[in-house]
Amino acid sequence: MTAASTAATHLFIVTGTSRGLGAALAQALLKPGNRLICVARSRNPELERIASASGVKVVWHLQDLSQPGPAATWLGSVLDVVEEAPASVTLILNAGMIEPIGPVATLRESTLVPHLLTNLATPMTMTASFLAHTERFGCPRKILAISSGAARRPVEGWSAYCAGKAGLDMFVRSINAEYAQAPAERAVRAVALAPGVVDTGMQATIRNADFAQVQRFRDLKDNDQLASAEDTAQRIAAYLERPDFGSTELDDIRNT
Ligand SMILES: NC(=O)c1ccc[n+]([C@@H]2O[C@H](COP(=O)([O-])OP(=O)(O)OC[C@H]3O[C@@H](n4cnc5c(N)ncnc54)[C@H](OP(=O)(O)O)[C@@H]3O)[C@@H](O)[C@H]2O)c1
Repeated sequence: MTAASTAATHLFIVTGTSRGLGAALAQALLKPGNRLICVARSRNPELERIASASGVKVVWHLQDLSQPGPAATWLGSVLDVVEEAPASVTLILNAGMIEPIGPVATLRESTLVPHLLTNLATPMTMTASFLAHTERFGCPRKILAISSGAARRPVEGWSAYCAGKAGLDMFVRSINAEYAQAPAERAVRAVALAPGVVDTGMQATIRNADFAQVQRFRDLKDNDQLASAEDTAQRIAAYLERPDFGSTELDDIRNT
């Protein structure tokens, strides 16, 4: 990459961009003055085509984010080759999974541990890497963790997801507490943002699962009451630009 291509652009790292909300977020951020680093385990050729037509610089990485160590190392190495300090840098922790769904008594290490690694441990190690490898930029830094209403109230059958997202909420609060007194050049603002009920593959998985409230999610779909990924992503992109970003550390896009 050349110095000219990186100077004074707003740099975004977005996880889980192959589909769903993450793909829509990447698309919403395809604006002049931005550049994106996108990561998931699979590719989205249509989105890659849209991105190249937009003229915005985007790099696509394939990385399994259920492995917190390699994910952190990967992010550090990607940030280390950014030659010119960006105008701002934002980490969007969007990648996530819903399964296992089922009673607490059926939780098993084989599915619970990969879930918590993906939804909680990797966002934590990636944040650590982000903080360590962006300090040299001396620019405004933001972290947006895509949370869930399920972080804040239990859903029967979603104990892994509720616990992981609640952990992510508390992690965001911990970042803000730690950086509250940081000088401007080291400052970080973090938000855990619930996106509402969004029409993605994750919702299809939920509708096909067996748990007490499943009919509510089937009804939302049948009654066309799901938010679209595109609308939600546009609202989140606008949220990121708010001057008071970080003032409400646990937020819900439906409140905005
Ligand atoms: N949809 C909703 O109603 C809703 C509501 C509340 C919160 N959320 C949250 O919003 C975020 C996005 O959800 P979504 O609905 O868009 O889900 P989705 O359609 O299932 O997409 C999930 C994304 O995460 C990536 N991902 C999952 N596991 C990964 C792994 N091990 N390594 C790398 N990437 C991985 C997937 O990419 P690959 O499979 O290609 O790796 C995919 O791009 C999640 O954090 C979710 O918890 C969603």
